[in-house]
Amino acid sequence: MGAKCAKDDTTSSSKVEDNSKSKSEERKNTPPKEKRELKIYTMDDVAKSECWMVVDGYVVDCTGFDKDHPGGAYAIVQYAKKDATDIFLSSHGKRGVAKMKALAIGTIDGYKDIGKQLADIN
Ligand code: HEM
Repeated sequence: MGAKCAKDDTTSSSKVEDNSKSKSEERKNTPPKEKRELKIYTMDDVAKSECWMVVDGYVVDCTGFDKDHPGGAYAIVQYAKKDATDIFLSSHGKRGVAKMKALAIGTIDGYKDIGKQLADIN
């Protein structure tokens, strides 16, 4: 089954805007992803997701990122629901690592040395 990595219609700009909340109020209530607490997931959770992938123990929500990915949308769609550690390590620099961590929503249950392999990237 193919992965669905596009954002849901409910979040797209075609939606009629709800102006009941100001933009700044909205921002206040939505902490940046890197400040959110990381939850613990299993590979099964990732396999059942629409567009999460695993990079060195991190669970990364790539929903909507496919079209912004410098390495192309197909790379994201292809590795959605999977462990992309090896390919990620061989094709990214520090910028890629920073973006991956910003999109991380959790870690894999029992994964040893989360992010250790990323330390060698420069
Ligand atoms: C967590 C998921 C991913 C994130 C956040 C991410 C992010 C990025 C970023 C920020 C860059 C440009 C900076 C850099 O090279 O470090 C990049 C480039 C690239 N990415 Fe990814 N990436 C992800 C997954 C993947 C996967 C799964 C593949 C391969 C199947 C891939 C292949 C590439 C390639 C080939 C480039 C280089 C593009 C170029 O310079 O022309 N990426 N990625």
